[in-house]
Amino acid sequence: MRMNYNIAVLSGDGIGPEVMTEAIKVLDKVGQKFGHQFAWHYRDMGGIAIDRHGTPLPNDTLKTCKKSDAVLLGAVGGPKWDDPKAKTRPEDGLLGLRKGLGLFANLRPVKVLPMLVDSTNFKPGIVTGVDLVVVRELTGGLYFGKPKRQWRTTRGRRAVDTLAYSEQEIERILQVGFELARSRRKKLTSVDKANVLESSRLWRQVAIEMAPRYPDVELEHMLVDSCAMRLIQRPADLDVVVTENTFGDILTDEASMLAGSMGMLPSASLSGGLSSGASFGLYEPIHGSAPRRAGQNLANPIATILSGAMMLRYSLGLEAEARAVEKAVLGVLEAGHRTYDIVEPGKTSVGTREMGDLVAGRI
Ligand code: IPM
Ligand code: MG
Repeated sequence: MRMNYNIAVLSGDGIGPEVMTEAIKVLDKVGQKFGHQFAWHYRDMGGIAIDRHGTPLPNDTLKTCKKSDAVLLGAVGGPKWDDPKAKTRPEDGLLGLRKGLGLFANLRPVKVLPMLVDSTNFKPGIVTGVDLVVVRELTGGLYFGKPKRQWRTTRGRRAVDTLAYSEQEIERILQVGFELARSRRKKLTSVDKANVLESSRLWRQVAIEMAPRYPDVELEHMLVDSCAMRLIQRPADLDVVVTENTFGDILTDEASMLAGSMGMLPSASLSGGLSSGASFGLYEPIHGSAPRRAGQNLANPIATILSGAMMLRYSLGLEAEARAVEKAVLGVLEAGHRTYDIVEPGKTSVGTREMGDLVAGRI
């Protein structure tokens, strides 16, 4: 087993650096305990990179990521860089990384922990037992399809985005979905809009063609509007949901609400399949940079800490270490510690640093 790992760290903007510090605190503790050395390579990305280098994704940042075993990311963006007329945005850095690193498979798990059921906006009967993963295609569809432009005509301005997928792109993301389902409750929900979109009809055909290769996995097809409804009606029925880029963007924000706070949810973006055991990947909390919370030791670092666990599992192949992190987080929550976003009214909460210390203390 290898013991030295190079990790690119892109803390980004807003609360990004604060939650990242805590994730690294926890991972260094894992390193001590299990005998690994993590070399952290800090680089600028997002708004901070625009300020310092005039671009959200400097070449050196991309190069460092490519040379590393994995990438940890905090959050990017903020009102300072929000002008819709701006030439470049922090988010462009994120999209450039996804494309530049070939991160086509985005895994967004949503697990409702029993002790947090009451901090969600849902009745306990709806969210109890929810344990699903959305597998979102991340380098195709509307985000990257060409043509993509805006222009003037004699009758006013027009704009176009393109929703395009090749069968290879569809097959590799569906494969991740099937494999993940196989390692879990063996149910795959493929989400599309095949009643309207040609790209969705291809998607559904490819899914049907692949199904015989995974006889142990139950495949169901669901239209995206119906899936949006299912997610808040009977979310516990869902196991693995696989879908194209834009649908996945929307459905994962919706799904995140089931868990009570975005501050709890990690994500992985992988460039290889799951079967390899160790795929290059980028790991980030699903929440944003929360500029109004920045610098106050308030933010919940658990999403970033759990993203670190996903990194241990999917990019470094360190399953026992990943579980140790997840167990430590559970232990801290079971002991009743809460950051502001998940605290019950009237109870006291802990800060970002304290939460990081508590989790690291249980590794
Ligand atoms: C996400 C975000 C990004 C996306 C934005 C920041 C470009 O919403 O990761 O879901 O749309 O993919
Ligand atoms: Mg989104």
